[in-house]
Amino acid sequence: MATLWGGRFSGATAGLMRTFNNSIRFDVRLWDADITGSEAYAQALERANIISSAESAALLNGLAKIRAEFNADQFIIEANDEDIHSAIERRLGELAGDAAGKLHTGRSRNDQVATDTRLWLREEILPLKTHLRQLIAVIVNQAETHIDALMAGYTHLQQAQPIRFSHWLLSYGWALERDLTRLEQVYQQVNVLPLGSGALSGNPLGIDRQFLADELGFSSLGQNSMDAVADRDYILDFLSWAAIVQSHLSSLSEDLIIYSSSEFGYLEISDAYSTGSSLMPQKKNPDSLELIRGKTGRVTGNLTALLVSAKGIPSTYNKDLQEDKEPLFDTVDTLAMTLPIMTGVIETLTINQSRMYEAMSSHLLATELADYLVEKGLPFRQAHDVIGKVVQMSLETEQPLWSVPLSAYKSFSPLFDRDVHTWLDFERAVERRDSVGGTAKAAVLAQIEALRKKADG
Ligand code: ARG
Repeated sequence: MATLWGGRFSGATAGLMRTFNNSIRFDVRLWDADITGSEAYAQALERANIISSAESAALLNGLAKIRAEFNADQFIIEANDEDIHSAIERRLGELAGDAAGKLHTGRSRNDQVATDTRLWLREEILPLKTHLRQLIAVIVNQAETHIDALMAGYTHLQQAQPIRFSHWLLSYGWALERDLTRLEQVYQQVNVLPLGSGALSGNPLGIDRQFLADELGFSSLGQNSMDAVADRDYILDFLSWAAIVQSHLSSLSEDLIIYSSSEFGYLEISDAYSTGSSLMPQKKNPDSLELIRGKTGRVTGNLTALLVSAKGIPSTYNKDLQEDKEPLFDTVDTLAMTLPIMTGVIETLTINQSRMYEAMSSHLLATELADYLVEKGLPFRQAHDVIGKVVQMSLETEQPLWSVPLSAYKSFSPLFDRDVHTWLDFERAVERRDSVGGTAKAAVLAQIEALRKKADG
């Protein structure tokens, strides 16, 4: 068998055109989904009395043999196999004889490929979900272990206010928790059945689409055959989900890379996730995190690639849609690595609590001083201005805020009193932020408990 469509052709396909058109080199990984879809369709044909039960049995037997061949790595792809659908159909003809020629009755590769891709992606989402849960779980564990570690909190990468190290780490846990919720939503979008839509206009043979959906575990049916064969929104949903996840992983990587530099020294990336330099013997580089950050480019690029390919395609199936697979496969493969690598990095981090503490500038407490004056009755805007001047003086005289004597404080405002120095304490500042979602110990412990529940599912 040359191609599935050669009847009306008298001329041969150009060699380069064949290579250009063929997708088997990448869509071969849909083999299991393709067989599963065909098994359901064979049964639907039998139920609609299009094929006999003997023919249906021959098809199911042949498909089972093909599955065994793939599992044993013994399926041979032939030069003329255009895509995975043609390859399996060709092989089924060899194994099941004439019955094989009936499997495609009323079915097009258009509804077939859309069904296969959905079946395939549905299976891939499950391990990604597990990876995400595991990453959240190690974040929660590290946060719990280091609940007492205090650190400078940054905005604009400038020291801002004191926080718990756990609070910083958990901030990524919550971003990933949203990713988990979004992934469940994406799954719902994926889980819609296109099969039974034919090439574009529906199925004329009385095929029971609800039977197909039940058989294949889809929760609903595509409601318009033209839309069903063309819809790639579920892939775009998945790719945008992945791009958002990668952006979270990338920011976390960036923070970890900075915090592990010798200038910061807040933490150390384990040897297991670092590599060295071929020239500089002293180097230990956070390549794991740099690769995660770098791969955000290709994952975002994959989303952009399909968005651009999908733009302006006329209705129903056009070959442009074959371009959906490589970005999808690459993104799945990438996240199947980046998520567990990040989990490993977090799990094996060494935290240097004293370095974090030593690096905290007294100016992290400037907001405390403003709050102090507010408590004494000064409106916040004025308090802000007064403390700005105090900070300026402290910079000029090179004295930390806790070393500025009361007399000097009083020269800025008569509201300053003996108790001012008790406010200049990191732990106290952190513990004052006891609102829901704040950095006080009890609030962080509540986060840990809530997030752990999400990670456990
Ligand atoms: N390999 C094709 C794809 O991935 C299968 C669908 C082909 N349909 C067609 N009308 N030529 O999109």
